[in-house]
Amino acid sequence: MTELILSLDVLDKTEACAIAKSCAPYIDAIKVGYPLVLATGLSIVRDLADLGLPLIADFKVADIPNTNRLICEAVFSAGFDAVIAHGFVGPDAARTCVEVAHSHGGAAYIVAEMSHPGATEFFHGGVAERIAELAVAVRADGIIAPATRPERIVRLREIIGKKTIYSPGVGAQGGDPDAVARLVDGIIVGRSIYAAEDPAAEAERLSRIRR
Ligand code: XMP
Repeated sequence: MTELILSLDVLDKTEACAIAKSCAPYIDAIKVGYPLVLATGLSIVRDLADLGLPLIADFKVADIPNTNRLICEAVFSAGFDAVIAHGFVGPDAARTCVEVAHSHGGAAYIVAEMSHPGATEFFHGGVAERIAELAVAVRADGIIAPATRPERIVRLREIIGKKTIYSPGVGAQGGDPDAVARLVDGIIVGRSIYAAEDPAAEAERLSRIRR
């Protein structure tokens, strides 16, 4: 079954909790990034934890190993279950995120290729493939790959095998959930759900998409 991950990029704590609660029956995890954490503080993790869903920290961690370690320790101490980190920083820095995640019983996902149009500037030409290889080498739990380019997901799947692929870019960025869901382990959806008139109804509709 393809998971549905809600990307909760709203800025108000009450609104975030209300949307998360209404969508909870239809989603498999909640992804929280800088917009919500910078607006509300890390305490939002405790508020969302009551829903009993895995919480993924999308901080796209991309620093030297020591700083990555400090960031990831803070992420998991706050109560997150997984972290998203960049791979272009190299194996030592990426491996640190994986090791910290695993030491907390959590998971780490490496961004192999991003979903926005400009991402092709640097990620194409072999870079995304090398990052996917790196994700395997550092024993990451999986990669992030673009729902906006299903053919790239197919290519990256050849490299990472059965590791998890989570895929953002569905809906607002143009990605077609029907085309992507059968290729990945989970689709990450933000605006299509949280900006919908009825977020729970949209989450339910997307949750019906199964490979
Ligand atoms: P929307 O509103 O476009 O939100 O459905 C998508 C969410 O996913 C994040 N995002 C990405 N994260 N690699 C990532 O690690 C990507 O290529 C990527 N594309 C989008 C985005 O920040 C938002 O939270």
